[in-house]
Amino acid sequence: MKTKIAVNAASGKMGQQVISQATSHSQVELTAAFCRSDHRLLGRQVGFNNIEYTSDIEQGLNQSDVVIDFSLPEGTMELVKQTAKTKTPLIIGTTGFSDEQISELKDAAKNFPVLLAPNTSIGVNSTLALLSLAAKMLGKQADIEIIEAHHKHKIDAPSGTAIRMGQAIAEAMGENFNDLKTTDSRFEKRTRKKGEIGMSVIRAGEIIGEHKVLFALDNEIISIEHKAQNRHCFAEGAVEAAVWLAQQPAGFYTMQDFLANR
Ligand SMILES: NC(=O)c1ccc[n+]([C@@H]2O[C@H](COP(=O)([O-])OP(=O)(O)OC[C@H]3O[C@@H](n4cnc5c(N)ncnc54)[C@H](OP(=O)(O)O)[C@@H]3O)[C@@H](O)[C@H]2O)c1
Repeated sequence: MKTKIAVNAASGKMGQQVISQATSHSQVELTAAFCRSDHRLLGRQVGFNNIEYTSDIEQGLNQSDVVIDFSLPEGTMELVKQTAKTKTPLIIGTTGFSDEQISELKDAAKNFPVLLAPNTSIGVNSTLALLSLAAKMLGKQADIEIIEAHHKHKIDAPSGTAIRMGQAIAEAMGENFNDLKTTDSRFEKRTRKKGEIGMSVIRAGEIIGEHKVLFALDNEIISIEHKAQNRHCFAEGAVEAAVWLAQQPAGFYTMQDFLANR
C-alpha cells in the first residue's frame, strides 16, 4: 500500500521539491499540500495531481499517513498543534529552533512519531559518521573549524546541519558541544583556545548548502566536506524517512534512527 503524504509550507523552495519527489515515488501518494490562507497558490491545482493547495490542515492530515514540514520554526510549532490532535507522524526539516521549542517538540513526540532532521540528505548523515570517527582519532589534538555556506535568503545561523556536525564531534570526544563552540573568536582580539570548535558562516548568492570541517594539526590538515548540488537530496531523504516514520510508534526520532533501522 502507498504511503499517503501531506506537505506543509508547500509554497516554499523545499515544499516544492518534496511535492516533486513525492509525486514521482512509486510507494507514495501525495494527499495534501498546505499553504497559508492568503497565499496566491490557495485553491490552485498541485502540478498534474488531483489535489489543490489548501489551508485546511486538519482535513489534509486526516487524509494522510504522515506530514513533511520545511517551513520556519513558528510554522512548525503551529503545525504541531494540529498533528497533536490527529496524531499524524511528522518529519521536521525546518531549522532554527530554540532549546525551548525543541523541548516542546520532544514533549509532543510522546503521543505521536516526530523525526527532527536539520539535514535530511543521506550524504550529510553519512558525513556525521565520518566526523565522529575523525573526532575520536584527532579531536583532542586538532583545531576544529566548521565552515558552512548557504544562500543569502537563509535566516538562521550557524545552520542546523553545522550545529548537528558540532554535536556529533563533541559527543565523539565525550564533551558537550555548547561548552566548546565559538562563533566570534575573530572579533575578540585573541588567539585560538585549545579545544574550541569554531563556527564560520557564509551567506551569499544562491549557494544550496556546503559544509566543510577542518581538523587542523600543526603539520597537516584533514578536511571532511559535503556539498549539496541541488535541493533534491534533501527532498529524497525526507520522503524516504516519511515512508519509514509512518510505520513507527510514538517517539522522538532522528535521521540516524531511520538510517540504522530502515
Ligand atoms: N533539513 C534539511 O535538509 C533542510 C534543507 C533545506 C532547507 N531546510 C530548512 O527548511 C526551511 C525552509 O527552507 P526553504 O528553503 O524551503 O525556505 P522558503 O523557500 O523561504 O520557504 C519557507 C516556507 O515556509 C512557509 N512559512 C514561513 N513561515 C510560516 C508560518 N509561520 N506558518 C506557515 N508557513 C510558514 C512559507 O510560506 P509563504 O510562502 O506563505 O511565505 C514557505 O512556504 C528552513 O528552515 C531551512 O533552513 C532544511
